[in-house]
Formats: sequence, structure tokens, C-alpha cells
Amino acid sequence: MSLLERIIALETEVSGATAGNSDQAEQLRVALLGRNGSITALFEDLKQVPLEEKRAFGQRLNQLKQAAQARLDELRTATESGGARSEGPVLDGSMPSNTAHPGSLHPITIVRQRIVEIFARIGYTVSQGPEVEDDHHNFSALNFPPDHPARDMQDTFFVRSNKEEGTTGSDQLALRTHTSSVQVRVMESGKPPFRTISPGRVYRNEAISARAHCMFHQVEALYVDKNVSFAELKGTLDYFTKSLFGPEVSIRLRPSYFPFTEPSAEVDMSCTICGGPGCNVCKHSGWVEIMGCGMVDPTVLTNCGIDSEVYSGFALGMGVERIAQLLYRVPDLRLYWENDVRFLDQFTAGTFRG
Ligand code: DAH
Repeated sequence: MSLLERIIALETEVSGATAGNSDQAEQLRVALLGRNGSITALFEDLKQVPLEEKRAFGQRLNQLKQAAQARLDELRTATESGGARSEGPVLDGSMPSNTAHPGSLHPITIVRQRIVEIFARIGYTVSQGPEVEDDHHNFSALNFPPDHPARDMQDTFFVRSNKEEGTTGSDQLALRTHTSSVQVRVMESGKPPFRTISPGRVYRNEAISARAHCMFHQVEALYVDKNVSFAELKGTLDYFTKSLFGPEVSIRLRPSYFPFTEPSAEVDMSCTICGGPGCNVCKHSGWVEIMGCGMVDPTVLTNCGIDSEVYSGFALGMGVERIAQLLYRVPDLRLYWENDVRFLDQFTAGTFRG
């Protein structure tokens, strides 16, 4: 190898030199610049170079020596301060750690809390009942006659059916199909006036799709007192929808049928997605259905031990997923149950305060 080739080889070696620790850095220094080091040896060989080339070789060799010294200094500092690493960032134990992921409330929880808050402002308390319910509270007391087709309105998951040996209609158990069952529990357990709402999970035997699920959430409201009128029901509906969705929304009532209310109505709200002209959420009508309601049927009051000559009341029931869909524009009901953080991360409590 000529002198030039040896210089070039060492230049390459120096620029790529690494050391895992300070001992290795020292070994490298000895190998390059020590008394018998390879760069030192080149200075010996320079003596043999013809006079006219000496100046150029001498300069190049000096540059190599300086580059080697600089690289060795770098390696020494890195191995002495940082331990086993010669390249890349040095670990700094005083840096703050990454902040913990804070998480957020589920959209259904946020909406349920908002509904409870809005009703609490006009004097409603919260009451709860069991999710496994008996026939009496879920159906009979609410004026669903035995074997009446009205029961088919709500596909029921039976836990203990009356087809089982020894059971009769009255000890049938099922997952509650609506939170109206809590109305019965409230009315049976005290004396009017009642002003209460009941949020909770309900279950129906439905095929899961973008528009239906076998479990969902409802909020039921019940108001029973002397002289409660349909006008008060309308006023309450107007107050509730405007508080939740904003002052620009309007509602309309359509006559309907529920076994436990008479008269009954379905409540439509002006579509919050398109604002009126029509879109696929409101099926191009400008209106979306948000709940059922009506005056508590006197038979239900009587079934619960309340004098229907003295007292009257209204009730309403809404689906929380539906309300959340209109507030947040959730296109598919299944998203609520999949726990995908890309969905859940979009709801931080307080972001959607209406
Ligand atoms: N329970 C009904 C359902 O699940 C909703 C409902 C309608 C509740 C009318 C009520 C009411 O209190 O008055 O479909």
C-alpha cells in the first residue's frame, strides 16, 4: 500500500471510529496516536518521501492527526459522561416524563349527566331500579295486558320464562325493556307529589346494526301531583330540548299509543343536523323523533296505589344514544360499544356544553 492509500484508509477509520466505553477510547488513542500507533508510523514514513512531495503529504498527515485527536476527544467525553453510548442523544434523567394519557368520559355518560342536570334545575330527583325486572314492574302495572300484542312492541330477553316448570306469568323475570319500570317502583314506594327521572340501561332482542342495538340507555321522567296538565308536559319538553340543543330548536307532538299513557304522543324536534331543509338523519323531513310521552294513564296510577281522582301526571322517555347522536353526529350506534380510543378520545367532558 502506498503512503497515500494508507492515509486515505486511516482518514476513513478515524471518521467512523466508535468506542463503547472510556477503555476502548483509550485503546483507540494508543492504536492511532501512541508511540507505535498507525498515524505516528506514517510520520516516520514521511521521511522517505521525495522532497518535492513532502510538503503536500506533510499537510495531509497533519490534518489526519488533528481529525483523529478531535474524534478521540469526542469519544472520551461521550463515554465518560454517558456510559455505554458514543453516538445519539445522551440520556438525561432530569427531563420531565411524558404526561399520562388523561382519558375522557364516555359520550353516553356526558349526555346522561347533562340530561340529569337540566331536569335537576326544575326540581327532578334521580331514581333507579334493577336491570333484571319482574313482569309486574316492566309490563303489568304499566297496563300491558297479559298476551296483549303491545308486549311485542318490545322484544324481551327473558331470564326466567313462565314456560319453565312451576313459574307463572307473575314470577317471570326479564332484562328490563324500558326505564318506565322505575315509574312503577317510585309510585309504589311513596306518596305524591313525585318529580323524578330515571336514567339506566335497557335491553331488547334486536339484531345489532348501525341503527339498532340489543342494549341501550334511556331516561324516563315522571311528574305526578294534583292538577298536572298536558300544557305542563309541553312546557317541560320545550324547556328540556332548548336547554340541551339550543334556543333555536322547536318541537312538535304527534299522537301515538303507549299502554301506560293516555293521551300519548311522540315528540319530534327540528333537525339539528340540517337545520330544516332535510338530510339523511331526518329522512329529508326536517324533523327527528326524540322521545315518547303522555299523561300517565289513570289505570297505571291506580295499579300503583295512587288515587287517580285526585292526582294526575305526565311521563316521558327518551333514548340517550339517539340524543347523543344528534348532539355529536355519531353515524353508527355500534361505535358507542366498541371502545375504540379514536372515537372515545373525541369526547372530553365539557367540550360539548351546548
Ligand atoms: N317506554 C317507552 C319506550 O321504551 C318510552 C316512553 C313513551 C316512556 C312514553 C314514557 C312515555 O314515559 O310516556 O319506548
